Amino acid sequence: MSAPDIILEADDVVVRFPGPGAGPFGLRRRHVQAVNGVSLQVRRGETIGIVGESGSGKSTLGRALLGLEPIAAGHVVLDGLAVSEGRRADVRALRRRTAMVFQDPANSLNPRRTVGDTLAEVLRVHGKAERGRTDRRVGELLAMVGLDPALAGRRPAALSGGQCQRVGIARALAVEPRLVIADECVAALDVSIQGQVINLFLDLKEQIGLTLIFIAHDLAIVRRLCDRVAVMYLGRIVEEGPTERVFRQPRHPYTMALIASIPEIDPDLALPLAPMVGEPPSPLEPPPGCAFHPRCVFAQETCRSGPPPVLRRADDHGWACILEPGALAAPLSDLPPLPVPTEREAFP
Ligand SMILES: Nc1ncnc2c1ncn2[C@@H]1O[C@H](COP(=O)(O)OP(=O)(O)O)[C@@H](O)[C@H]1O
Ligand SMILES: [Mg+2]
Repeated sequence: MSAPDIILEADDVVVRFPGPGAGPFGLRRRHVQAVNGVSLQVRRGETIGIVGESGSGKSTLGRALLGLEPIAAGHVVLDGLAVSEGRRADVRALRRRTAMVFQDPANSLNPRRTVGDTLAEVLRVHGKAERGRTDRRVGELLAMVGLDPALAGRRPAALSGGQCQRVGIARALAVEPRLVIADECVAALDVSIQGQVINLFLDLKEQIGLTLIFIAHDLAIVRRLCDRVAVMYLGRIVEEGPTERVFRQPRHPYTMALIASIPEIDPDLALPLAPMVGEPPSPLEPPPGCAFHPRCVFAQETCRSGPPPVLRRADDHGWACILEPGALAAPLSDLPPLPVPTEREAFP
C-alpha cells in the first residue's frame, strides 16, 4: 500500500506505438517505445515538473497517467483507482477527479460556444452545480482564474490567448479535480502572460491545495513553479528530485546540459560545464547502453555497451548515470555550442 499522501503512483510504465512501415500481420513492425519503464510518485498538493526535449515522451506519459493512452506494461494507481486496469467504473471515476490543460488554448475550446456555456456544460456533466446555481458557479470559476465574470457571454474568438488559457484552466477546475496535468500550457503564450498563468497556479496550490503535474520544456518556468522535477530522455526518467536540488546539483549530464542552456540561469551558480552534442536519437532505434551516451561528452565504454543505468538514489534525489559526480566536472573547451531545445509537436 502506498502512503496516504501519495495521490499518484506509477510503476514501470511502458507505452508503445506502432512504428512507421509496418508490414502485414505486424511482421517486422518496429515500435516506438514512447515511455520506457517510468516510475513516479506524486504527493498530494505537490507540483511536479516533467521536462525534456521534444519527443522524450512527456505528453504520452501524461496521457497514460490519466488513462488516456493504453499502457503496454506497468501499473498506475491514481487516488486509489487502478488506471492501468481500465475498468469502466474506475475510468469514469477518474474523469471526475482529474483534468488536463493543453498547450493550445484557443483550439481546445469550442469556438461556437460562449465561455459560460462551455463551463456550464462541464458543471452539468459532472454534477458539480445545483440547478439554478450554475451561473453563479461559472462566475466563481472565472473569478478564480482572474477573469471578469462578464466574459461568460463571450466566445473564444473574442478573447486573447491568455484569457483563453485561463478559461482552459477554469474548465479543468470546474471538475474540482484532485489532480491536474498541464501539458505545455504556457508554451504558446507571451512571456508576461506566461508569468500570470504561473502565478495563478501558485495561488491555486496555496488556496485549494492543487496537485499539479506540469509538463514543460522551459526549465526556468519549472524552477519557479515546481516543488519537484523529473527529467525525461527517450522515454525514461533520467533524473528526479526536489527542484532546487536538481537545479543546483544536477547529477545527470543531460540535466546539466539542459540547465546550462537556460539563458537566465543564475550567473554565480558554479555548474559543471556539460555541453551535449547532436540531436536526440530516434526512439525507433534507441542506442544500446545508456540512451544518452552518443551525446554525452563524458561517456565511457560501459556507457556504450552496459545495461541502461538504473536510478541511483541519495535521499529523495535520483539519477540514472553510472559516473561519479567528480567525473562530470572536467574542464572542457572547443566544444560546439549547445543546441537549445525547441518544442515541435510531431503529433498535434
Ligand atoms: N500517436 C502516436 N503514434 C505514434 N508515435 C507517437 C504518437 N504519439 C507520440 N509518438 C511518438 O512517441 C514519442 C514521444 O512523443 P511525446 O510523448 O509527444 O513526446 P514529448 O511530449 O516529450 O514531445 C515520439 O517519438 C513521438 O513521435
Ligand atoms: Mg508533448
